Amino acid sequence: MAPKSRKKKAHARTLTCYCDGSCPNNVINGTCETRPGGYCFSAVEEVYDEFTQTYEEERTFGCMPPEENGGFLMCKVAAVPNLHGKNIDCCNSGDLCNRHLHPAFTPKLTTPAPELPVSSQSVHYLAMIASMIICLSAFVVIIVIVCMTYKRREKLRKQPRLIGSMCNSQLSPLSQMVGQSSGSGSGLPLLVQRTIAKEIQMVRLIGKGRYSEVWLAQWRDEKVAVKTFKYTQETSWFRETEIYQTVLMRHENILGFIAADIKCNGSWAQMILITDYHENGSLYDYLSSSVINPQKLHLLAYSLASGLAHLHEEIFGSPGKPAIAHRDIKSKNILVKRNGQCAIADFGLAVKYISELDEIHIAQNTRVGTRRYMAPEVLNQTMNPQQIDEFKRADMYSVGLVLWEMARRCYTPIPGSKATTCEDYAPPYHDVVPSEPTFEDMHVVVCVKGFRPPIPSRWQEDDVLATIAKIMQECWHPNPSVRLTALRVKKTLARFDADYMDCPVKIV
Ligand SMILES: Nc1ncnc2c1ncn2[C@@H]1O[C@H](COP(=O)(O)OP(=O)(O)OP(=O)(O)O)[C@@H](O)[C@H]1O
Ligand SMILES: [Mg+2]
Repeated sequence: MAPKSRKKKAHARTLTCYCDGSCPNNVINGTCETRPGGYCFSAVEEVYDEFTQTYEEERTFGCMPPEENGGFLMCKVAAVPNLHGKNIDCCNSGDLCNRHLHPAFTPKLTTPAPELPVSSQSVHYLAMIASMIICLSAFVVIIVIVCMTYKRREKLRKQPRLIGSMCNSQLSPLSQMVGQSSGSGSGLPLLVQRTIAKEIQMVRLIGKGRYSEVWLAQWRDEKVAVKTFKYTQETSWFRETEIYQTVLMRHENILGFIAADIKCNGSWAQMILITDYHENGSLYDYLSSSVINPQKLHLLAYSLASGLAHLHEEIFGSPGKPAIAHRDIKSKNILVKRNGQCAIADFGLAVKYISELDEIHIAQNTRVGTRRYMAPEVLNQTMNPQQIDEFKRADMYSVGLVLWEMARRCYTPIPGSKATTCEDYAPPYHDVVPSEPTFEDMHVVVCVKGFRPPIPSRWQEDDVLATIAKIMQECWHPNPSVRLTALRVKKTLARFDADYMDCPVKIV
């Protein structure tokens, strides 16, 4: 018992230990007092010297708290050579017993790389890599942009151009914009339309109709036509805008739509529609002032049939196009392009038909068609307005009358002489109704008396004129169901030898 209690007593005394690096009050090379039961220690540790940038051994001496606070236990644990390159020896054999303790220094075998301070050299290195990455990405972006621009140019170059005199002309900026943005043919984005409308400068009035005025205007360097609607005609504006923006509506024989907008003119709203401008004006203007040869007649008739066939056609699929009937076909609503082809205009009265929904879209409109060109079933009110085909057939009746107006201006040689001849321009039924015929006037002439425009005998002397004379009669037949369709007229006219024609006709 006695030796045991002596040992306990020896352990319980305080010790004076040599201390360095772990002294109270940061004293250097001093001493410290352990609490009763404490130990003196000597420790070695691997530390990173920032100055020399190497790992070095660092020795510390000092007092270890008594065992119950983990002191001696720490001595035991840390004495095992360990991963942290730390070693410790403890003693309690007497004052300053740790002075000569020298625990072995075992540097770490696998030293994880210290978090190196970012030296200026490595900053340069990083900057170099970053700038190389930036340069490489910029190079890739430039290559991609160049490829895309080239592809777009190629696509534009391959786009079908207008036939004839327009064949060689470059596309104007506006045509390019409209062409690029409306691959599906549904027009420019509304914001672009508004911007164009704001930049328009009116030049002069070129025509006045019952519901609208048409102005020549300028957009940047280009001439455009601006149609302004009377304030009671917002339905016509809505309908025409809607029809022009119908998907797949764009066609070389349908007036090119550019923009629609509503401008505030003081206290009232001015609805406008901007389209391509055609200096020849309407077919009515053109035929009133010029005569045409059979080739030109053929091109006018063929292009009119092409435009109308496209309008009438319903295209299934995605995107698809509804069938559209015009309801106001006449020579004043057809424009003559510089290349001699027709462009159908004025869709304020048009109807759409979507077979999927089996619905006819007729705008609630105070406007009516032009009485002179009204089909007999419209005049005697026997037409079924729920059938799109009936509207199309009524259009074909009007086409018959327009072909007649064209044919009168087509000159043919006078037999036995070098001179040529043709009829003066005249609107259909000019000899049987007044200049502003009433509904009743037309009804009597077309339905009751069954009159149709006369066919001069000279028309039989030319192939084109004779064919067109036959077509017009089949178009204005009193029985709508036996009238030719626009597609049939187009196909019949496409049979003419391409060599015969002024401009090659694309047969689609
Ligand atoms: N895009 C255009 N380019 C050149 N001239 C045009 C264009 N659009 C219309 N015009 C001219 O303006 C005229 C007036 O057209 P508008 O549609 O207002 O009346 P209209 O067709 O003559 O008669 P209404 O529409 O009352 O039946 C046309 O007859 C034509 O001479
Ligand atoms: Mg018109």
